[in-house]
Amino acid sequence: MDVHRTGMGAPRETKRTQARTRSAYRRYRAFPAPIRSPRMAEVISSDVFTDLGSGIGNVAVQVYANTPMRRVRGIEFVKERHNDAVRHAEEFKRTHQVDKDKEILLVNGDVCKEDWSDSTIVFSSSTCFDDRAMECLRRNCEENPKLRYLVSSRELPPTTLRPLGVFENLDTSWSMKSDVTYWVYSNVPGVKLRDA
Ligand SMILES: C[S@@+](CC[C@H](N)C(=O)[O-])C[C@H]1O[C@@H](n2cnc3c(N)ncnc32)[C@H](O)[C@@H]1O
Repeated sequence: MDVHRTGMGAPRETKRTQARTRSAYRRYRAFPAPIRSPRMAEVISSDVFTDLGSGIGNVAVQVYANTPMRRVRGIEFVKERHNDAVRHAEEFKRTHQVDKDKEILLVNGDVCKEDWSDSTIVFSSSTCFDDRAMECLRRNCEENPKLRYLVSSRELPPTTLRPLGVFENLDTSWSMKSDVTYWVYSNVPGVKLRDA
């Protein structure tokens, strides 16, 4: 089942967050715009992927389209961006054959209020997150014993999660330069990066 929830508990952007996201979105390219993957992780169909701050859905739709993961989720609190994400996912489904067992859940909400506790892989271009959202990201990931990978474009404050590595100078859909760093963590013993 697809979930396109709107409005529920989504806070307004603060002036500070607005300024950060405005600057990111000035440079935001249209879908599809994949992040160049360093092929760092093995993913399996039972993995649950969540993009926290999923914008117009480019990462969520790419993961839905190109990996075997059966549940892909995107959580975005700006309604217009969420609506675009829903449109992009529907367009993809209309124009491609999609395995009926796969679902993409696009939620218009706040990462601090929505439930993403089933995630085994969490991705977040968290550069524009405020401190409250970063704290939710850290706490919820620390409390999730199934979390195999957290990939965040802001380094976490001190955490019990195990740091796995850093990817530097990456291309993203929202920066003109290859200048974005992602920090990778895990909460599952034995999990490591493949090409690190
Ligand atoms: C830089 S964009 C990332 C878009 C996409 N995930 C990507 O990597 O290309 C970050 C998004 O996070 C959203 N965001 C910021 N704080 C949030 C929160 N507390 N809850 C949900 N979304 C949030 C912003 O509105 C923005 O669209």
